[in-house]
Amino acid sequence: MSHHLLTVDSLNRESVDYLLRVAARMEPIAQRRQVTRVLEGAVLGNLFFEASTRTRVSFNAAFCRLGGSVCDTTGFTFSSMAKGESLYDTSRVMSGYCDAIVMRHPDQGSVAEFAAATNVPVINGGDGPGEHPSQALLDLYTIDKEFQRLGKSLTGAHILLTGDLKYGRTVHSLIKLLSLYDPLRITLVSPPGLEMPSKLIDLVASRGHRIEQCDSLANDFADLDVVYTTRIQKERFTDEMNESFQGLSDDFMVNRDFLDQRCSQSTIVMHPLPRDSRPGANDLNVDLNGDPRLAIFRQTDNGIPMRMAIFATLLKVDELIEQELRPVRWYVPTQTGTLDR
Ligand code: NCD
Repeated sequence: MSHHLLTVDSLNRESVDYLLRVAARMEPIAQRRQVTRVLEGAVLGNLFFEASTRTRVSFNAAFCRLGGSVCDTTGFTFSSMAKGESLYDTSRVMSGYCDAIVMRHPDQGSVAEFAAATNVPVINGGDGPGEHPSQALLDLYTIDKEFQRLGKSLTGAHILLTGDLKYGRTVHSLIKLLSLYDPLRITLVSPPGLEMPSKLIDLVASRGHRIEQCDSLANDFADLDVVYTTRIQKERFTDEMNESFQGLSDDFMVNRDFLDQRCSQSTIVMHPLPRDSRPGANDLNVDLNGDPRLAIFRQTDNGIPMRMAIFATLLKVDELIEQELRPVRWYVPTQTGTLDR
């Protein structure tokens, strides 16, 4: 694993399995049963030039739960980039202040350009339609945990990815990460014009996976183990696409009927979130809230141990965690959300 995390291309099966194991060791801290101070004195720079709730806050919380502190800046308006500062200068400046940097930026390749100017570990928190490696790692960690609970194996699993597969960076990173594992069956369902880039399809096929594409959810999909839905990334559309795209039709909606008719009791439903809950968006339906197959909030919770694992590994304190653990002293509810099962 390189000293940055910019793309899942820098990971292999061994380094991914290692991160999954480190994340599992972080669970007592993430679940607020124990505390550690292994990153005491360390400072994280969290630079977000695009909208974010969970990625920004969970990277921040993960660093704090390891005992570090966080400095952050959000949006171009309040950063010196609004005065024309280059990525190179910003990177060099931030490296003098921080021990690790997470950056999200609307341009593909920008986080790699930023990372090229520093020896401080940089994590790509999403670069336009490019990649989102930490999300893919927490998604894989979620699949692994859910499959362990359900007594399933990843080998031969059937995974359906749907929604905006062209601009959705989470699915770009996830499909590459999944392709490191034993042969899978992957079905891609997207509206015309929003298909997965063909170079990613070719890569996955060349690694021996069975990959099929279709343009509607109204098909019979045998034995689905995971349904991974994504939001339409309208903010990345060209003006021409914005004019021609009428919105996601309701045949793309993953809801209770879809699950009851086309999935089994052991299918899990994932989404990187945010889901667009506005009327007519036809994103993942809220009628599944409270259904145990809906794994989206277990998935967001898993962002903390996985991001802690990424920091601990990049900052080389992964071996020190167990030596540092102490019990928590504050009140923690036994169940985080009111509908959790
Ligand atoms: C995603 C992103 O920003 O790529 N969100 C996230 O980080 N969990 C997905 C999206 O915005 O649709």
